[in-house]
Amino acid sequence: MSITQEDVLKALSYVEEPDLGKDLVTLNMIEDVQIDGLNVTFTVILTTPACPLKDLIRNACVRAITTMVNKDAQVTVNMTSRVTSMRQNRDILPGVKNIIAIASGKGGVGKSTVTANLAVALARTGAKVGLVDADISGPSMPTMFNVEDSRPHVYQGPDGRNLIEPIEQYGIKIMSIGFLAPAESAIVWRGPMASSALKQFITEVDWGELDYLLLDLPPGTSDIHLTLVQTVPVTGAVIVTTPQKVALADAQKGLQMFRQPQINVPVLGVVENMAWFTPAELPENKYYIFGEGGGRALAEKHQVPLLGQIPLVQSIRENGDEGIPAIMHPGTPTAELFTLLAEEVARQVSIRNAVAPRTNVVEMKS
Ligand SMILES: Nc1ncnc2c1ncn2[C@@H]1O[C@H](COP(=O)(O)OP(=O)(O)OP(=O)(O)O)[C@@H](O)[C@H]1O
Ligand SMILES: [Mg+2]
Repeated sequence: MSITQEDVLKALSYVEEPDLGKDLVTLNMIEDVQIDGLNVTFTVILTTPACPLKDLIRNACVRAITTMVNKDAQVTVNMTSRVTSMRQNRDILPGVKNIIAIASGKGGVGKSTVTANLAVALARTGAKVGLVDADISGPSMPTMFNVEDSRPHVYQGPDGRNLIEPIEQYGIKIMSIGFLAPAESAIVWRGPMASSALKQFITEVDWGELDYLLLDLPPGTSDIHLTLVQTVPVTGAVIVTTPQKVALADAQKGLQMFRQPQINVPVLGVVENMAWFTPAELPENKYYIFGEGGGRALAEKHQVPLLGQIPLVQSIRENGDEGIPAIMHPGTPTAELFTLLAEEVARQVSIRNAVAPRTNVVEMKS
């Protein structure tokens, strides 16, 4: 008996997307089913190009067809992706599907380092990525992306408003106050001025179409953070911490800030940075300089995923200073860890989009 499209879809309706808890047919993830004798071809539309479950899903599809339809079927699974979004009000940043805030509480724990590497790792999977350096008093992205002398072009958009063209480097669209004011002038932006500069940055930049816009936040839980959630509907927050007690206490404050009822931004998970130190000459050794397991304990306490652990590695700092993020040195353990981290973040965004309510800009009563 010849294979029909219905047979194929029926079999695939038994294949579950493990993270989303529903089958591929219900989730509209199957397209373009073609049958030619025993050759069965179809496309699976993943929710992110950084999907860590690609191989698992592919194998499950092949197994479903060969066990339920025809054991001799020759199955070809093509994989592509369409990043999901749950944004409702698209007046602001209309082309941006997901906005991810990277925050910490404590300063110097590696937010900017993690953000830079996350951005490049996501872009390498094929996602369209933008990055806002929201650290108005200490911008890091011009250095970390080696674009310190770049100056963005401003032009008039179709509606007569000024639009800022972001600086593009390593496939990432970047905006930073560092592009507008020379580093040595060290302006201290505070309060309303800082907030309005940040707002301008995010809303007047011509981002085009983006799958992920990452916001590298300054340390702390200041006005800037509140302005941010009043300005843009943040899809989720990533909390970066180091394992020692003082950092964890601040990270917890950061995490709780997003969870306040009037803010209500989902926390996608925790990244433990500087989790251990491994000297280049003793690659098997791990030294827990800042203590062991603090990031995991924080994640468990607040019932959010531990998205990844990044060790303290001299080259991560060197790569940051030379403007070529560590992820760009393929084959290194560090690049591998940042790739896994990006997959995990993308995965949590997909899960969030599948299960959580839509994000609105927070209405603040003053
Ligand atoms: N895993 C790591 N291994 C080695 N050095 C690191 C690591 N993570 C960050 N660093 C270094 O630590 C310093 C602080 O990192 P970074 O600027 O990313 O932190 P931050 O949290 O963004 O700081 P701030 O609060 O000032 O914005 C930088 O010099 C960076 O290169
Ligand atoms: Mg920083």
